[in-house]
Amino acid sequence: MKQDMILILDLGSEENPRLAREIRALGVYSEIYPHDITAEELAALPNVKGIILNGGPNRVVGGQEIDVSKEIYNIPVPVLLADHKGDRPWPADPDARREALSNFVFGLCGAQANWNMDHFIADQVELIRRQVGDKKVLLALSGGVDSSVVAALLIKAIGKQLTCVHVNHGLLRQGEPEQVVEVFRNQMDANLIYVDAAERFLDKLAGVDNPERKRKIIGTEFIRVFEEEARKLEGIRFLAQGTIYPDIIESGTKTVKAVKSHHNVGGLPDDLDFELVEPLKMLFKDEVRACGTALGLPDSMVYRQPFPGPGLGVRCLGAITRDRLEAVRASDTILREEFANHGLQGRVWQYFTVIPDLKSVGVRDNKRADEWCVILRAVNTVDAMTATIEELPFPLLQKITARITSEVKGVNRVLYDLTPKPTGTIEWE
Ligand code: XMP
Repeated sequence: MKQDMILILDLGSEENPRLAREIRALGVYSEIYPHDITAEELAALPNVKGIILNGGPNRVVGGQEIDVSKEIYNIPVPVLLADHKGDRPWPADPDARREALSNFVFGLCGAQANWNMDHFIADQVELIRRQVGDKKVLLALSGGVDSSVVAALLIKAIGKQLTCVHVNHGLLRQGEPEQVVEVFRNQMDANLIYVDAAERFLDKLAGVDNPERKRKIIGTEFIRVFEEEARKLEGIRFLAQGTIYPDIIESGTKTVKAVKSHHNVGGLPDDLDFELVEPLKMLFKDEVRACGTALGLPDSMVYRQPFPGPGLGVRCLGAITRDRLEAVRASDTILREEFANHGLQGRVWQYFTVIPDLKSVGVRDNKRADEWCVILRAVNTVDAMTATIEELPFPLLQKITARITSEVKGVNRVLYDLTPKPTGTIEWE
């Protein structure tokens, strides 16, 4: 193993992720485990140089104060008990905190500052090979940041033992399915099954206007398509997933309640009983991106803006029709091109177009004509819970409007949504 590690054992603190980030900021890798990890499990972890028992307000679970097993204290590495209830070992001041941590990590534990992406990748490659052996692994590759980075990491570790399935549900942005094929099949020589399921999804969605029903249909159909592909393959033992650390935090830990349930391809039938491979589950988003870059993925994939699972399906408001779906895809392409031309790519958190089920009268070729309108949305946020509006330059808005109304069939008006979240949500449905 290339890198030293400081373990954080969760004794009910809500600050575990922050602590892990602070240790990683010192250049030392850190992972978080539940308090009931056994001494054997712990001994199997590589290069553990020190342990922090991180207590906090959630230490009492079901009326009982939780603790680690006695044997943990016998492990021959320094153990630090950090209890946030009583005397905090960490000062609140960031510099003093860094110094206290640094004293423990380097002074007491003698850890090396050797956490970097190359070492992380080398370690994960070894761990994946150890877990998987000569068996086969399946991955649902959406082309989003997390699944793309998992794919690249697994290709490096096990090459053709990995099979990626890319389901094109017909609700992706312009050029996305093509990019997945180009990067993974052509450049990385991966086993990639490309499923064009657009017609199937659109048929299922025909006439459905309730947003939650639309989401449900898209989610369920996705699992069905993936399941069908999985059944065609023989000898698959493992399912890889792009779970990252924030997904785990949001799903709750043994001491912190769930914010929301997390499911990637959860929902597969019980007889498709795969063991999970989740090599990114201890990484924060910025680290996932750094990992993708180190593995040679293009910036356009690694720094892609967030895109909802149901895709353009929730931006084509009400019942999805093919003409409006194409119009929202074409207008989104123009918006992205113009953002790139104006140096805004990567500087605005999320930007996209929405097409309501609404026509208004306009003039085209000297005749009155009823056509659709398109709404522009560009927001900034830290956590997607609240969002502010990007102040786009007026000439840019005019340029985008001119292009959309002349290049996108059936659209005669463009509107700009000025609503922050709250009261609006980021998406329109
Ligand atoms: P809202 O619209 O709730 O969106 O302000 C917050 C963030 O979540 C994304 N979003 C989704 N992501 N499946 C997803 O994977 C969904 O059904 C979904 N709905 C919204 C949205 O794009 C924004 O980044």
